[in-house]
Amino acid sequence: MASMPALHLTDDVNWTALADEVLVHCNQIAAYTEEEGIITRTFLCAPMKPLHELVSGWMQAAHMTVRRDAIGNLIGHYPAEGDGAPVFLIGSHLDTVPNAGKFDGVLGVLLGIAAVQALGGRRLPFAVEVLGFSEEEGIRYRVPYLGSLATAGRFDLMLLERIDAHAVTLAEAIRAFGLDPAQIPMAAYPRQRILGYLEAHVEQGPVLEKLNLPVGIVAAIVGHSRLWASFQGNAGHAGTLPMEDRHDALAAAAEFVLEVERLARSVDGLRATVGALTVKPGAVNVVPGLATFSLDVRHADDAVRQRAVAQLLDQAEDLARKRGVRFHMEHIEQQPAVKADPRLTKMLVAAVETMGFPAMHMVSGAGHDAAVMASLTPMTMLFLRSPGGVSHHPDEAVVPGDVQVALEVMVNFLFCLAGGLP
Ligand code: GLV
Ligand code: MN
Ligand code: MN
Repeated sequence: MASMPALHLTDDVNWTALADEVLVHCNQIAAYTEEEGIITRTFLCAPMKPLHELVSGWMQAAHMTVRRDAIGNLIGHYPAEGDGAPVFLIGSHLDTVPNAGKFDGVLGVLLGIAAVQALGGRRLPFAVEVLGFSEEEGIRYRVPYLGSLATAGRFDLMLLERIDAHAVTLAEAIRAFGLDPAQIPMAAYPRQRILGYLEAHVEQGPVLEKLNLPVGIVAAIVGHSRLWASFQGNAGHAGTLPMEDRHDALAAAAEFVLEVERLARSVDGLRATVGALTVKPGAVNVVPGLATFSLDVRHADDAVRQRAVAQLLDQAEDLARKRGVRFHMEHIEQQPAVKADPRLTKMLVAAVETMGFPAMHMVSGAGHDAAVMASLTPMTMLFLRSPGGVSHHPDEAVVPGDVQVALEVMVNFLFCLAGGLP
């Protein structure tokens, strides 16, 4: 790339109109939901199919050809100026958490499409592919990053046996969507053809807003451990079972939740959350026999995170012994902390500074497809200010002017990459 002449942004792009269109499209996508009145879009749910048709249309309008891989990632391809050129990837995810906002994931995909549209048919010395990953949040199958894991060639085919809350296996869900799970290995990109990966995402935190900056640059993404576990006690009659004879699974879980909070508050930078809890049999007059819960632990330093998880698991065992219940860990999934690529990040810094803004380097406490993509190719990531720092919540928002800045930064970045700058 280094021999390419530097390219410059053309004046004939109406950036405000393009950025406004991104926001109109985010609002349009919000209507594609599994749950009436709120935004919930889990892996390959029914509304994902018409949503793919909608987004495909936008990709085509931006001069891309569209395909879908076997894990359900939607991919727009914008050709290079010559044959056999490498490919640069831009992406984020199209799934959401339950009762989500309009921007987590979706905004990054739409900014990628808008960046290609801004090229106006002008070819670069590399192809650009925009990926709408099918799954990042890990809600339906309790495993995050299904889309990017397949792209990165790291999808474990054993996952196909996992079941969702309705006992539908992952393989069945893929087939029901009209895709063939046997083809998932073919979704992996050949490493040698890929130049790198860029993801734009809402910050989901308060840092940029406090600094009054529209965008920031992700230096690293924290690692996380996610596990599912349960306390199994004995169900019994709420009126007749004496308190001293009880083995209450929920009381054990409640004590554990407080231990989780206590530990996270005592370790700098540690985040630990029990975000899901189900109780069985779950009746007003029955002592809980089973409490199943999730645990999400994050820290920028993998060793600190792993120590915290080990300590919490020991505490759960101790609690179980003390209360005469059984502790059982069902599933654990871990993602190490990753750093952004220095060379691509330098270009992103140049792209931000060209816009007249300082390059604020920050650590992402949220997980992103970029963390998985970093195992395939050099990765860099742009954050957009989150008003109120709110995310995974319907009040999630963006500032329209920030969307325009991010879009111009992304196109500027592509031109830097084409010109081999700096
Ligand atoms: C993804 O949004 C995560 O950080 O959990
Ligand atoms: Mn999210
Ligand atoms: Mn996200």
